[in-house]
Amino acid sequence: MQAAFLEDDALQCGYCTPGQVCSAVGVLDEIARGHPSFVTEDLERSPAPTDEEIRERMSGNLCRCGAYVNILAAVRRTAQGSI
Ligand code: FES
Repeated sequence: MQAAFLEDDALQCGYCTPGQVCSAVGVLDEIARGHPSFVTEDLERSPAPTDEEIRERMSGNLCRCGAYVNILAAVRRTAQGSI
């Protein structure tokens, strides 16, 4: 996850980054365990790491710099195992 944040330039000042990285790891763990979120439509099946799922599960983390687009890309990249 840390490598994905660097590769996707998912930070500006870095103030929020440790919390974002820890939450992102937790988000992917929740999804892997099949825990539903507020936006999970089918509660009978394990959720997929869609952008909507990642956004919802990361929504408690604020970034003053607004690096959300690249944070999402980093989490998505890690979920896809492309790093
Ligand atoms: S990178 Fe500056 S607050 Fe998130």
